[in-house]
Amino acid sequence: MEKFDVLVIGSGPGGYVAAIRCAQLGMKTALVEKYATLGGTCLNVGCIPSKSLLDSSHHYEDAIQHFDAHGIEISGDVKVNLEKMIARKAAVVEQTTKGIDFLMEKNKIAVFNGLGSFVDATHILIKGEKETTIEAKNTIIATGSKPANLPFISLDKERIITSTEALKLKEIPKHLLVIGGGVIGLELGQVYRRLGAEVSVIEYADRITPVMDGAVSKELTKVLKKQGIKFYLSHQVNKVVRNGAQVQLTATDKKGTEVSFEGDYCLVAVGRRPFTEGLQADAAGVAINERGQIEVNAHLQTSVPNIYAIGDVVRGAMLAHKAEEEGVMVAELLAGQKPHIDYNLIPNVIYTWPEVAAVGKTEEQLKGEGVAYKNGQFPMRALGRARASMDTDGFVKILADANTDEILGVHIVGARAADLIAEAVTAMEFRASAEDLSRMSHSHPTYAEAMKEAALAATDNRALHI
Ligand code: FAD
Ligand code: NAI
Repeated sequence: MEKFDVLVIGSGPGGYVAAIRCAQLGMKTALVEKYATLGGTCLNVGCIPSKSLLDSSHHYEDAIQHFDAHGIEISGDVKVNLEKMIARKAAVVEQTTKGIDFLMEKNKIAVFNGLGSFVDATHILIKGEKETTIEAKNTIIATGSKPANLPFISLDKERIITSTEALKLKEIPKHLLVIGGGVIGLELGQVYRRLGAEVSVIEYADRITPVMDGAVSKELTKVLKKQGIKFYLSHQVNKVVRNGAQVQLTATDKKGTEVSFEGDYCLVAVGRRPFTEGLQADAAGVAINERGQIEVNAHLQTSVPNIYAIGDVVRGAMLAHKAEEEGVMVAELLAGQKPHIDYNLIPNVIYTWPEVAAVGKTEEQLKGEGVAYKNGQFPMRALGRARASMDTDGFVKILADANTDEILGVHIVGARAADLIAEAVTAMEFRASAEDLSRMSHSHPTYAEAMKEAALAATDNRALHI
């Protein structure tokens, strides 16, 4: 029987990164994955394919809506070839997952293809083309998550679909109903809106992206409405049925009135649930909580001391970079180091255009915690760079402690917000004050100047360009 220092179950961004770090630290490492390709949700049916379609559809939108203003004239029709767009996405996914094969080989990680299940706390059965049992001193569970569903919805995966199917549709929907105004609903809703679909987002809460800063939800709603997405907030969906090529959805609005929607596709995007099926966690004595998550302590250790769990299958944000940080942390703990993750500094990004990015506390959280804060805000439209590219929607909002000036939260809506947020994370990691940020030189003309200006506004209300 083959023996390893560490076995990682699941090859998503949590699992494969954990395996690399374990190998870097000199541990004999194995990785088991039940799917044919490595990379998990993120690379195969998540981050990478969704960003690929967001980029393609953005190019199309630019061509049909914005080129003219830039003085670029196109003779003849601009058309979408969806099959080709989806094929490009598949090629990007393939390249990226192959990159993980390369990294496994480079780091001499033994990769097993098959479903991993615990026999006991140190033995794992791998059911692939053949059955193998291996022995592992330590195991890291990184089995990820699957789309959640509502109890009364039967997903047929043709017309009533999850994000996985939405990434490979064969036609552009005429009317896409989206249940859930969260990250998936907005990103994929925007893709199909740009390609010509009517998109209706039906959201239970009274605002989209309910966990983000209220000002962000408001601005994003305004911009996406302008782009043609329709929002039905405070609507409780009660029934979704397929009727041939149509899907009928019934919801109850705030006033208690029943409202009906009819579309040709319905995307269910109401969150994701931890995935542990087939793992036989109980055979090892690993506890799973009532939310289906593997229970872990602050060191990501499960109820069994030599078994750890990371990523979407444990508590916390379901984000690729959070899973990666946890993978590194467990590897370093196993090597006797003392790593630490500041969960408050894990940024959150929505890759719509304009992008949305945030780190730290929202204004609502600071109010709830009774923290005295200052709010410095700067609109993108006041930037020369934003006007040059005609990306004038959005703002940077910096929340700083009223007494110490320490930056407590940064919330951005705007072009390239996903990249801009890295500056905020760096500043907050080093516990910078708004004044620190405001005194740093930011190249001109850039979107990053909005960070400096918002910091000036937060310091003592002295933004220069507004
Ligand atoms: P996963 O990536 O889910 O990987 C788990 C792996 O474990 C899977 O490959 C699974 O097959 C395997 N597995 C499960 N059980 C077993 C078993 N018993 N034996 C062997 N293998 C097993 N996050 C971001 O940060 N940025 C984004 O832009 C982003 N976009 C997204 C877009 C979409 C449409 C979706 C659905 C998600 C997106 N996410 C994004 C979330 C991100 O994909 C997840 O947070 C991330 O993949 C979690 O990583 P993980 O390693 O915990 O699990
Ligand atoms: P989500 O949690 O972001 O949003 C779900 C939305 O559905 C919420 O607004 C919620 O209020 C709403 N909702 C829940 N039940 C409902 C109901 N019965 N009727 C109507 N609305 C209802 O989940 P989503 O969008 O499915 O994404 C899943 C996870 O994937 C997220 O947690 C996110 O972390 C991750 N992800 C991250 C991305 C990124 O980082 N850019 C992109 C896509 C996904």
